[in-house]
Amino acid sequence: MYSLIRPLLFRLDAETAHRLVFFTMKAGGAAARWLIRSTSYQPSPRLGCSIAGLELLSPVGLAAGMDKNGDLARLWPEMGFGWIELGTVTAHAQPGNPKPRMFRFPDAGAIINRMGFNNRGSAALVSHLKNLPRSTVPCGINLGKSKITPLDEAVSDYALSTERVVDLADYLVINVSSPNTPGLRSLQDADSLRDITDAVVSRANGKPVFVKLAPDLGDEALLDAVHVAQTHGAQGIIATNTTIQRHGLPDVGPGGLSGRPLHQRSVEVVRLVSKNTDLPVIGVGGIQSGEDVLRMLAAGAEAVQLYSALVFEGPRLISRLNRFLDTTLDQHQLTSISELKTAIRAGDIPIAPG
Ligand SMILES: Cc1cc2nc3c(=O)[nH]c(=O)nc-3n(C[C@H](O)[C@H](O)[C@H](O)COP(=O)(O)O)c2cc1C
Repeated sequence: MYSLIRPLLFRLDAETAHRLVFFTMKAGGAAARWLIRSTSYQPSPRLGCSIAGLELLSPVGLAAGMDKNGDLARLWPEMGFGWIELGTVTAHAQPGNPKPRMFRFPDAGAIINRMGFNNRGSAALVSHLKNLPRSTVPCGINLGKSKITPLDEAVSDYALSTERVVDLADYLVINVSSPNTPGLRSLQDADSLRDITDAVVSRANGKPVFVKLAPDLGDEALLDAVHVAQTHGAQGIIATNTTIQRHGLPDVGPGGLSGRPLHQRSVEVVRLVSKNTDLPVIGVGGIQSGEDVLRMLAAGAEAVQLYSALVFEGPRLISRLNRFLDTTLDQHQLTSISELKTAIRAGDIPIAPG
C-alpha cells in the first residue's frame, strides 16, 4: 500500500507530505486504525519488556517529533509500536520556523529538519488527550522550551508544561537537545539541567522522567549530563536527538540531521552512556532494520525509538522489526527480549557491522 502512495508523497514537499498523511489518517478515524491494525504484525507477548516501571509491548517505540500534538495517538499502537512518545510540546503554542524546514534525502535515508517545535502547546495537547481513551501502550510526553521564553526562565516553562500534562503521560521527557531552538542545547549544562530536572521530577507524581541528549556533545559533557540527570531523579536517558553534522549531504541551511548517517554516532553514545550508568538507555538514531535494533540492544539500549525510517519505509517497517525480533527469538530458542539482550551482549548472536 505504502509503495503505491510513496512516489506521490516523495513528489511533494516533505512537510506537505507529512500533513497529507496525517490529514488522511485522522479523517479515516476508526476505519484507518482498523486497516492499519489488520495489515500490521502485532508483537507477540514475548516482545514485552520493561523500563523504569513501564511495560512496553515491544522495545520498538515512536520517537518524539512525529506526532507533536497527539493527532494520531490512537493509531501508532495499531501499527505495532510497543510504546510511543508525543511532543515536543512547549508551554506556549508556537508556529515553529519559516518553511521550508524539513528536507528528505531518500538515497542517504536521511532527513534534515529545523521545525523549531511547531506545536499547539501543552494545554492544547491535554485538552485533546483528555477526550481519547487511555493509550493501549505506554505514552510519553516530550517537553521543550517555548521560543519566546528567555533561556534563564526555561525552568518555569518546563515546570508549567509538566503540571499540565502529568496526569495524561506515562512518562515525561526533558528535551534539551534540539538544535532548532536558539540556545536550547546550552540547557544540557550542569546547572541548567539540574534545575530543569528538579522542576520536572518534583512535579511528575512519581512518573519516570527521561532526559534526551544530543549526539554532538563530547563524551565528557555527555557523562556530566547523565550524572546530573541521575542524581536529580531522572530515570532514563534517550540517546540521541538529531546531529548538526552533515555527513556530506547538500547544504539546506541549519537544522538537525537524522536517519541512517546518524546511526553510528547514536550507537556510540548509547554504548558510552550505558557503560557509565545504571540508568536505562533508550537508543534512537538511524534505526531502519532489525539488525539496527540488535546493534542498539548490544550497545546497551533497553529499548529503541525511530522516526526517519518510518518516512522512507512506511508503516510496514514496524511489522518487519517486530517480526524480525520474534524470529530472532525463535532462531536462538530464547523466550524474551530480556534473554535476547543477555545473549547479544554476551556475543552469542552475531550482528552485522552498521
Ligand atoms: C522532522 C523531525 C522532527 C523532530 N522533532 C523532534 C521533537 O520535536 N522533539 C524531539 O525530542 N525530537 C525530535 N526529532 C528527533 C527524533 O525524535 C529522533 O531523536 C531523531 O530523528 C533520530 O531518530 P531517527 O534517525 O530514527 O529519525 C525530530 C526528528 C525529525 C526528523
